[in-house]
Amino acid sequence: MCGIVGYVGSRDAVPVLLDALSGLEYRGYDSAGVAVLNGRGVETRKLAGRVAALRDLVRRAPLHGSCGIGHTRWATHGAPSERNAHPHADCTGALALVHNGIIENADLVRARLERAGHRFVTETDTETLAHLIEDAPGATLEARVIAALARVEGTYGLAVIAEADPGKIVAARRGSPLLIGVGQGEYLVASDANAVLPHTRSVVYLDDGDIAVVTQQGYRVFDSDARLQQRAVDDVAWDLETLALGHYPHFMLKEICEQPQSVQSTLRGRLLPAQGTARLDGLNLSPARCARVQRLVIVACGTSWHAGIVGRHVIEELAGIPVSVEYASEYRYRKPLRLPGTLTVAISQSGETADTLEALRAAKAAGSTVIGIVNVVGSTIAREADGGIYLHAGPEIGVASTKAFTSQLAALLLFALFLGRARGLPLREGRRLAEQLGELPDLVARTLELEPEVRVLAERYADAPNALYLGRGINFPVALEGALKLKEISYIHAEGYPAAEMKHGPIALIDENMPVVCVAPKDEVYPKVISNMQEVKARGGRIIAVTSEGNGDLRHVAEHQLRVPACLPLLSPILTVIPLQLLAYHIAVRRGCDVDRPRNLAKSVTVE
Ligand code: G6P
Repeated sequence: MCGIVGYVGSRDAVPVLLDALSGLEYRGYDSAGVAVLNGRGVETRKLAGRVAALRDLVRRAPLHGSCGIGHTRWATHGAPSERNAHPHADCTGALALVHNGIIENADLVRARLERAGHRFVTETDTETLAHLIEDAPGATLEARVIAALARVEGTYGLAVIAEADPGKIVAARRGSPLLIGVGQGEYLVASDANAVLPHTRSVVYLDDGDIAVVTQQGYRVFDSDARLQQRAVDDVAWDLETLALGHYPHFMLKEICEQPQSVQSTLRGRLLPAQGTARLDGLNLSPARCARVQRLVIVACGTSWHAGIVGRHVIEELAGIPVSVEYASEYRYRKPLRLPGTLTVAISQSGETADTLEALRAAKAAGSTVIGIVNVVGSTIAREADGGIYLHAGPEIGVASTKAFTSQLAALLLFALFLGRARGLPLREGRRLAEQLGELPDLVARTLELEPEVRVLAERYADAPNALYLGRGINFPVALEGALKLKEISYIHAEGYPAAEMKHGPIALIDENMPVVCVAPKDEVYPKVISNMQEVKARGGRIIAVTSEGNGDLRHVAEHQLRVPACLPLLSPILTVIPLQLLAYHIAVRRGCDVDRPRNLAKSVTVE
């Protein structure tokens, strides 16, 4: 939520900031702004709207300077408007700052500052920071920022510039991601490595509580008591091309089509078919330790939570460990039980989701070992977990998660296989699974061949006001994910339901206007799902069945059939979700929706 960036060097900061903001737009896109320091002091341009609109504004009213900051917003406090857009200033206009996070005691601080004579011009929580720094004691900007931050509660990724300290950006982090990009005679600060990648691969990930001082000459990192800290310089492995659209019209479609490669990357070097297991060194879990695990708790949000429910099925079946799957936002506020033998697994594409991170911390505080299943290397969850599995799916830019989901499922299957083999899963079964996992990228590629059929269906159902998605067992979370994809990008109301549970309510909604997507690959509940489909058909519902090759003709119940390649039931969600992703995508395109930037959403939810 909200992307922040800063640049200091010998170049004009403005084009660098604008390009970086385009790369951060997935974090929020309701308003945007930049501010630079130049001979005339602090100059700012901002507006309600996208980065493209900000570029136009800057073209019409240029500004220049070699030290500047920028922001792309996902509104929390105050509607998206020019006034509420960042950067924000103090009373004198000699200081500007950008912020990602929430200042929780903003109302109190604001009231106190207003009584002391400060004039507030926005409804944001962020503006309190500008006025606090204005009043704070200290000879340098960093000293004033440190003093001001001591008076706020909440979370922040922050970048500040001030006329009194030219050529300097002070950045601070607590709870919202922030890193320094280390270039040749130039430095950047940013919420995400994407933003600095065109300029440098070397980054310094800041820790919570860090304050960084960045100038053209270099950077220094301090803790909140102004003691100098050493932070390692990491190398970002992602290629610049992976951040470009190429010939695709949208990142979402590109990422759907990349799934043979992204699933392959998740599996690469990790399958040991002869031993019938997986090699997962990053977990830091010995086989003896795996054997002692008594229960597993998965914490996650959104699509990652859906992956968690699939994970529950595969882990319980292969490893015989009871698994509970928790919404991270709920779990973090429950009284955590101190149960010995608990292993907690945090699943997160970004590795920065605030609720998942806090759930991980709560689990740790309750004595649990914590594993992260994360895509973004160096992200906070990856760094705070005791061990983990990186997805290696490459950057996911589209707000609706697609390739991260299938990679999460592949990682969970590897994890379940690893746990299972350490806990008595027979070699034969392990081998069978490992072999079929190795075939997955090909099966995913074959599944993508369904796209033309799905596009025809999308034309037909693009005007539906509602949709129902049904599945049983391991297919239920796939139904949930299909419904989430459709609602988030096409704004069609859609619900995912366990197929048999439909009788207890949603069946009342079924008539000839209700498309019902049934996830029904070949598995042991298949005959039961057919019965559920009959119930829908008897009430006039129009069924789209997602089933497997060789599963028999469903023409008698389903109006449409989409067939994915046959595979072991535990692997089928990786295939059955693909036509659902494509269906949501093509319906949204057909309805003229902004697929990669759906309204009100953001990709990385760093506020609770
Ligand atoms: C947001 C995104 C979803 C994502 C969820 C969890 O809501 O729009 O696509 O599934 O956050 O994100 P994470 O990065 O933790 O997987």
